[in-house]
Amino acid sequence: MLSQNDIIRWIKTSATLIAENKDHLTDLDRAIGDADHGNNMDRGFKKVLAQLDGVKEKDIGSILKSVGMALISSVGGAAGPLYGTFFMQAANAVNAKQELSDTEVADFLLAGTHGLINRGKTKPGDKTIVDSLQPAVITLKEHIDAGEDIIEAMRQAVIRAEQGVQETIPLVARKGRASYLGERSAGHQDPGATSAYLILQALLEAIKSH
Ligand SMILES: Nc1ncnc2c1ncn2[C@@H]1O[C@H](COP(=O)(O)OP(=O)(O)OP(=O)(O)O)[C@@H](O)[C@H]1O
Ligand SMILES: [Mg+2]
Repeated sequence: MLSQNDIIRWIKTSATLIAENKDHLTDLDRAIGDADHGNNMDRGFKKVLAQLDGVKEKDIGSILKSVGMALISSVGGAAGPLYGTFFMQAANAVNAKQELSDTEVADFLLAGTHGLINRGKTKPGDKTIVDSLQPAVITLKEHIDAGEDIIEAMRQAVIRAEQGVQETIPLVARKGRASYLGERSAGHQDPGATSAYLILQALLEAIKSH
């Protein structure tokens, strides 16, 4: 079970982890992109935090929608619209609820992931956000469906996300700026897969501390 407060804590912790890893994300993007992913994400989550006060008494759908809109409006490039779509579609899945069952948590993350995949026209193996996000969210769903506690299920999801990040290293990028490098994109960790891992890590931390 997740409360509206847990969601707020998730978003705040995401902003903290993104800020702490800003230079790391930018360094990863320097190798195969244009060295802006850390700055993009940090700018986006700073805008998210600035808007959070205005919606923190509202239902979970409204909070997630506000996060999505802040990201879309403040992050240029590929990642803003993609993460923005993730949060907007997640918001649509939960609607006006004030709390979510464990199954609803897995389902809203799946809905957001499907939204992001449709928007980015991508699939696992393309060396993108999807490579950590999708297998992690599927892992969460499987563990929750098996009756496992949300904290343990989320722990497994984060482990799977971390593995997904590592799995991007040998891949040749097929989407985004990194794809312009062709074979030369192989041998580098994907920045977007890494930021998705951080956002899932933030959810685990938010759940653990409730
Ligand atoms: N179509 C896509 N679907 C999912 N993720 C994508 C897609 N295209 C790019 N990405 C992710 O976006 C990350 C780059 O985000 P960044 O904020 O640096 O945007 P950008 O520099 O404008 O984008 P890009 O470098 O992809 O042109 C990549 O590491 C990759 O994970
Ligand atoms: Mg970039």
